[in-house]
Amino acid sequence: MTGATGRVGGRVLARLLERGERVRALSRNPAAELPDGVELAVGSPGDTAAVTAALDGVDAVFLVLVGDVETEVRGFTAALTAAAPRLVLLSSSSVVHPVPHRIAEEHRAAETEVAAATARWTFLRPGPFHSNALWWTGSVRGTGTVRCLVGNRPGAPIDPDDVAAIAVRALTEDGHDGLAYELTGPQTLTSGDQVRILARAAGRPIRFEVAAAEQAVAAFTAAGSDPVVAEGNVAALRSREVPWGRPNGTAERLLGRPPRPFHAWAAEHAAAFG
Ligand SMILES: NC(=O)c1ccc[n+]([C@@H]2O[C@H](COP(=O)([O-])OP(=O)(O)OC[C@H]3O[C@@H](n4cnc5c(N)ncnc54)[C@H](OP(=O)(O)O)[C@@H]3O)[C@@H](O)[C@H]2O)c1
Repeated sequence: MTGATGRVGGRVLARLLERGERVRALSRNPAAELPDGVELAVGSPGDTAAVTAALDGVDAVFLVLVGDVETEVRGFTAALTAAAPRLVLLSSSSVVHPVPHRIAEEHRAAETEVAAATARWTFLRPGPFHSNALWWTGSVRGTGTVRCLVGNRPGAPIDPDDVAAIAVRALTEDGHDGLAYELTGPQTLTSGDQVRILARAAGRPIRFEVAAAEQAVAAFTAAGSDPVVAEGNVAALRSREVPWGRPNGTAERLLGRPPRPFHAWAAEHAAAFG
């Protein structure tokens, strides 16, 4: 698997280990701290030679792509042979967005490359993660304020651990090949709603403001994004045409229980906002 040191992948790893599965983690970091018993392979998902070596003897792959997604996916799929293992790709609900933006383009490109390389694919297309609220910890602690960069459109955020639980089903069961799952959480919430829930959980007032679109573009650019890409992404994230807020029942069906609501995540992470 890739992304084992990350948010969703870390939970996939933990859940696979709980099941007694053997796991090899491909990480860019040669000093990655992984649980006992996990085999570390060093390299990025785009490094075809590293991926070829890491795939040896593997039955199923969980693929997380971060950064230059299109280059990484090409490097990764070049390592797949006719006897390719089952492959579960962490994609994004943005692939079905009706407005053009870079996040959607790169995930669409990843899905296209993977589907061309193997028939044994499953695409997980989650919407925004509950854990995106961690972007706000610094300003909440510093000024008691969230200045939201992504606007205040209603969404149906999902717990990354629920995405991981579904990934583990797709990795370990038959019947998911060739299927794409759009995954939502159980409730429609705006960012402002999420901040009110966080304030209750943390037991402190938190002011909520929406940053002007130009300020959001400037912030993403300062964080390393190309300005044109940042402008397109900000416009899409704030667009009324993007259907963010529709809990669709797919996660519940795959989990066999309701997906975890945002208030449960907020209660667990309240200390980060205190
Ligand atoms: N956040 C959302 O709301 C959301 C919603 C839908 C889809 N997604 C998609 O989910 C994926 C991210 O999943 P995640 O949150 O679990 O990932 P993550 O925790 O951000 O990181 C995943 C892995 O990427 C590597 N990594 C982390 N930061 C990096 C950086 N700055 N440059 C290069 N590599 C880096 C690390 O692997 P190494 O061990 O190799 O360093 C890490 O384990 C993305 O494809 C994203 O588009 C996100």
